[in-house]
Amino acid sequence: MSLDQQAIHLRRREGSETTRYIAVASGKGGVGKTILSINIGRCLAQNGRKVLIIDADFGLSNVHLMLGLTPKKNLTHFFLGDASFDDITVEVREGLSFISSGNGIYELAKLPKDQVLNLVRRLQELAEDNYDFVVFDTPPGIHDDTLTVVSSSDFPLIITTPEPTAVADAYALIKIINRESEIEDFFLVVNKVESEREGAKVYESVRILTQKYTTARINYLGSIKYRRNLIRKIIDQDPFERGFVDDVYNILSKMDLKVEKPQGGFWDRIIAGLFGR
Ligand SMILES: Nc1ncnc2c1ncn2[C@@H]1O[C@H](COP(=O)(O)OP(=O)(O)OP(=O)(O)O)[C@@H](O)[C@H]1O
Ligand SMILES: [Mg+2]
Repeated sequence: MSLDQQAIHLRRREGSETTRYIAVASGKGGVGKTILSINIGRCLAQNGRKVLIIDADFGLSNVHLMLGLTPKKNLTHFFLGDASFDDITVEVREGLSFISSGNGIYELAKLPKDQVLNLVRRLQELAEDNYDFVVFDTPPGIHDDTLTVVSSSDFPLIITTPEPTAVADAYALIKIINRESEIEDFFLVVNKVESEREGAKVYESVRILTQKYTTARINYLGSIKYRRNLIRKIIDQDPFERGFVDDVYNILSKMDLKVEKPQGGFWDRIIAGLFGR
């Protein structure tokens, strides 16, 4: 990581212990970062937390497409002084908002370093004054800006599927972040599995490799089953599939965030009883 990047690392502000950063990253594309980021945000918001999702997929932002919301202004406008923090924040539902990045990072690179630092600090201050959690949805692969965001987060969360290429790329990403930033604690989620056992096997293979060749530790958060219905929900721009949400609650329960699935009412229990879950 370059010195410049280290300089814009999100240093925790004094007295702002409460805001926690979760970065969702992967080596290979299409493994479920965006859908997981949105669902993590929603589960946290359901638990009364204020959550901001930042679509850090500079260039190919797609959080807004999944949610069916098109922000008029994005992070780029904020960085260029063309929009306020409120202008770029879109409310999805109570407690859950998101910011789209536009191609902000490229614009940032053109600005003088002092100005960049001020802007990042300002963004940090606004996020920490208003939110309990900031979830970053990052682009796939190994980029310097992803590295910076992931290594600055409280929860560097790596997601993969059981496909060998995705697993190899997840390991490569962990290895590089570990080497470049000396981050040791990573969180792993295995998506699109057939069974929990399949997820556990993937974890085991990543664990063995990282133990042998890196100083990284893998905290396994569990797996998410392949859900045929999810694609329909995504097309309807309502990407919250019941089984997927349950798996996300299981994942959050392992992150020690005191988050619980809200107990349904009478009719929810009847429906669950009738149709199984
Ligand atoms: N558990 C799942 N079951 C079924 N389909 C899934 C599951 N998770 C993700 N998908 C599908 O995989 C596709 C990719 O998901 P998503 O866009 O969240 O991945 P991504 O990692 O953000 O991709 P990119 O790298 O392009 O940003 C989605 O269209 C979704 O339909
Ligand atoms: Mg994505």
